[in-house]
Amino acid sequence: MGKPPKLYSFASTDDLVPALRTVGVSGGSLPKTLAKALLAQGDGRAEDGVQFGKWHVFFADERCVPLDHADSNYKLLKDELLDKIPHDLGRPTVFPVDETYLDDVQEMADQYEKVLVSSFAARDSVKLPLFDLLLLGCGPDGHTCSLFPNHPLLRETGAWVLPISDSPKPPAERITLSLPVVCHALKIAFVATGAGKRDIMRKIFDTEEGHTLPCGLVNDGGADKVSWFTDNDAVHGVGFP
Ligand code: 6PG
Repeated sequence: MGKPPKLYSFASTDDLVPALRTVGVSGGSLPKTLAKALLAQGDGRAEDGVQFGKWHVFFADERCVPLDHADSNYKLLKDELLDKIPHDLGRPTVFPVDETYLDDVQEMADQYEKVLVSSFAARDSVKLPLFDLLLLGCGPDGHTCSLFPNHPLLRETGAWVLPISDSPKPPAERITLSLPVVCHALKIAFVATGAGKRDIMRKIFDTEEGHTLPCGLVNDGGADKVSWFTDNDAVHGVGFP
């Protein structure tokens, strides 16, 4: 089974957040949970809080909807976290998707890949972008980003950003970082809280099948790279190796 996972409570983000620059964020319940944890750091003292001004924030996945749409991961992050950051902690530089390409999911993925290329170095000089930290959710079926179990996108190794038109979780059209890009990040932190995550946590950590699920494939990167921000409800009864 490999090394046991590092399980973090939200009080222990300190060793993940100093000196961060490139951060990739997913959607779902994550932005809200994250905001609660990160905005509480340093008890409001700017010198002890997260240095958001140094952050370059990218989207680990995004839905093909306008940026002000209720389904937009950008809007979610903006409403839940970005707009609530006290000014003395600095403003992150945020890289949303380009709305011009909403009706062409392939083009939207290609354009976002260009954003990554210009931020992370030329495509021909690095094989994969190196995120300092990816903050990811874990779906009840074991998906992460918009990489779903048994989906052909899991085998894609040629592109950094991929289009998906048949996402089982609505909306169907999305873009997502590819599995190799996700696995290449320096640090990956999953956020999985609440009793609704218990079954999938069990599957990922207690079963062979767990290793074939997108979250399990990423988790197999090892405890030095992958952390789980959880609560008691999510991990109750999970038999960690
Ligand atoms: C999305 C997400 C997706 C999400 C998981 C977990 O845009 O849908 O990026 O990967 O993080 O589905 O979502 P919950 O935390 O809401 O269950």
